Formats: sequence, C-alpha cells, structure tokens
Amino acid sequence: MFSYILTYIQYPLPCEAKYIDNQKTLITIMRISTEMAKAINDQISYEASSANAYIAIGSWCERIGYDGSAAFFFEQAAEENGHMLKLIHYLNGVGAEAIIPAIEKPPSSFESLESTFQFGLKSEQTVTKAIYDLVDMAEKEKDRSTYSFLQWFVSEQIEEETLFYTILQKFDLLGKDKLAVYQIDQSLSSVRSQVMSKQTSLKYPSTKQ
Ligand code: FEO
Repeated sequence: MFSYILTYIQYPLPCEAKYIDNQKTLITIMRISTEMAKAINDQISYEASSANAYIAIGSWCERIGYDGSAAFFFEQAAEENGHMLKLIHYLNGVGAEAIIPAIEKPPSSFESLESTFQFGLKSEQTVTKAIYDLVDMAEKEKDRSTYSFLQWFVSEQIEEETLFYTILQKFDLLGKDKLAVYQIDQSLSSVRSQVMSKQTSLKYPSTKQ
C-alpha cells in the first residue's frame, strides 16, 4: 500500500494540490485557474472545428476541380490542427487536463469559391475574438504564463485574417468570371507565401543597414 501525504503548496494562482505518492514521487499541480483551463479547452474546440471545416471545404474544392484551393484549405486545416496541439500541450504541461472535443459536422457544399474564403474569414474573426477574450482573462487573473503563451496566437491570427482578406481582395480586383476564378485558384500558394513573408518581416524586422 502506498502512503499518501497531502501537500499544500503556496502558489500565486488558484491551483489544485494533489496527493504525493511518496514511492512514485508523483505530483500533479494545476498551475492555472480552473476557469482558465476550461476557457483553453473551449479554444481547443474552436480550433478543432476550424480544422474540420477547412477539411470539408478542401474536399468540396477537390471535387469541383479547384485544385489550388483544395491544397490551400488542406494546409490551413493542418495549421489549425497544429494550433489545437499547441493548446493541448500547454494545458497538459501546466498540470491541467486537455479535453479532446467531439465536433459538429461542418457544411459539405458551398455556393462559390469566393464563399469558401468568406466562410474562412468569418471563422478566423471568431477565433481572433476568442483569443482576445482569453488574453483579457489572463490579464485579469495575472496569469503571466498563459498571457505570454497566448501572444503567439495573437500574431498568428493577424496573419490568418490578413491571408483571407488578401484572397478576397483578389475576387474584387480580378472579377468573378470563370477565368478570373481559375487564376485566383492557381495563385493561392504564392499568395500564402507572400502574406507569410510580409508578416514575418513585420514580426522580425531586419537589423541590416
Ligand atoms: Fe487557429 Fe485559424 O485559427
């Protein structure tokens, strides 16, 4: 039989002290508040839903023959999956429990190629708002660890919204007839690279003279 000692540890954030098994020396302390853990778990759900929705859009594009857009949305889905994993690792790392959510079925058909990017922009705006709410919460709780962790997501959301805005701009500039839509579809991978390198240079300006 293991003998357990309940150890209370002083910590500036609300936390749960758990049992120390003194033979296995296992200790689990949650270093963020229960409310914060729940809010980050909600964010995991948003990222998972986005990933799923982008896979559904990619699949629709592939069916219709928009190959550039299919590749774009499948890559976008992989990014969302990466965001979800980042959140999962963070929660588990701070002694909370990451909960893998069930996900609602996303839409399976779309009006037009442009409407898929409108859908994407709306989805990114919703995620941005959710990230800002998390940042506000971290600030309010003086949870510096989560606050610092979230800064990466703040920059990422700027990049993602810019990407969708830039693509939607192309529909305004080039038009919506078949040839214009084909050109936009074929240009997406270079649009992604351009937006990403612009955002990277804003984040890390060159110090060279
Ligand atoms: Fe992870 Fe595009 O929001």
